[in-house]
Amino acid sequence: MDLIDVWGGVALQGKARIQGSKNAVLPILAATLLVRGTSFIRNCPKISDVYAMLSLLENIGCTVRWQDDGVLINATSVCRDVMDTEAVTGMRSSLCLLGALLGRCGEVFLEYPGGCVIGKRPIDLHIRALEQMGVVFDERDGKLHAAASRLQGADICMQRSSVGVTENVILAAVGAEGITRLKGAAREPEVQALCEFLQLCGARIEGIGTDELIVWGGDCLHGIEYRVKADRIVAGTYLFATMGTGGTVFLEDAPVDEMETVLRLAERMGGQMEFTEAGLYIQGPERPASAGLIETECYPGFPTDLQSVLLAVASICGGETRIRETIFENRFRVVKELRRMGADITFTGENEVLVKGVSGLKGAVVTAEELRGGAALVTAGLLAGGHTRVLGCSYVYRGYESISRDYKELGARIISV
Ligand code: EPZ
Repeated sequence: MDLIDVWGGVALQGKARIQGSKNAVLPILAATLLVRGTSFIRNCPKISDVYAMLSLLENIGCTVRWQDDGVLINATSVCRDVMDTEAVTGMRSSLCLLGALLGRCGEVFLEYPGGCVIGKRPIDLHIRALEQMGVVFDERDGKLHAAASRLQGADICMQRSSVGVTENVILAAVGAEGITRLKGAAREPEVQALCEFLQLCGARIEGIGTDELIVWGGDCLHGIEYRVKADRIVAGTYLFATMGTGGTVFLEDAPVDEMETVLRLAERMGGQMEFTEAGLYIQGPERPASAGLIETECYPGFPTDLQSVLLAVASICGGETRIRETIFENRFRVVKELRRMGADITFTGENEVLVKGVSGLKGAVVTAEELRGGAALVTAGLLAGGHTRVLGCSYVYRGYESISRDYKELGARIISV
């Protein structure tokens, strides 16, 4: 199932349930390594990045079992710190095992985590932060080796915001001796969810939701049942698809409290929204209005993970939209594929594009090169006249349980092949 066929021109209608959050669940799965006993992670999305993470955990001695809508993990007998390098390569999110394994075992081998087309994805900030906690990094047989004779809390000041570094420092700090103070911490909801999970397991963490975290190390953590919140990026993807097709949709469980910037932008583009505890109701406009200038930012700004989907919808807006990418250095690769569908997009700077809305996109055969660009191409197929075939959809399944199932539930003519 590596390709998706879409016949566009249908206004989405109906209800779709939003899956659990990929970027919240991955560090929480890593955090179960710090728990003596069984953790039950509910609302765990069935996506390939989760399957890869679970196989890594099994490789190092965890017992893993799916049950109902979640997964049971027991890390009591974790014995190995060498991970299956095959699974690690190409998957950035295994990087959060770095902090958890240091916190649990004090040593870890990791294949240099694969970057991807959206950027070099270096790990210099991870190394610099963890070295302050007593971790020594070197290379052995082409693998990254990290070890600390005594993992110690430290006062760490981040030069730039990084979700992954924040998560690794938190995970290592819980297993360290002493107190860790992290200034410049990322404030993304996924970081907050990790802290909440660890707190419920018995860790002491202060400053959650702010850019200054204090983590006390050395507490013994007990297993809990924890429900992962819905995925704000999947919800935002379906929100923009509804905006672009002029649909009327209810997104069950959408985490609206984490989507303020996105909702404000959709309103500016002509969407009408109502939200309750149960989810988000969207009435898309006849034709979306221009979004003006949009800059991706750290939370609570506009999320970089929705930039490609916004680009697709901006392609059919009335007027011009400027989009500036400030988080990753190469997140406009989907532009060339959208141009094949008739989008009028020009680069006006190294990381900025000008989108002139056209009356409609036309179906084409296009290729996904990474997760969010792939989701954007499937969404563009909904907006286009005729048939669009998206190749490379295995990237999309890294983060979306089944984008074609969800869009089909909303009335789209779409099929995974
Ligand atoms: C997380 O990636 C998310 N992934 C990304 O989602 C998300 O786009 C990103 O945070 C937003 O910042 C997961 O949570 C699994 P960063 P992460 O460290 O932690 C640079 C998706 O589509 N940097 O916050 O890797 C880095 O290159 C994915 O779901 C360094 O320079 O992102 C980037 O330019 C994509 N050195 C910037 O910081 C480092 O050591 C922000 O990266 C680390 C990062």
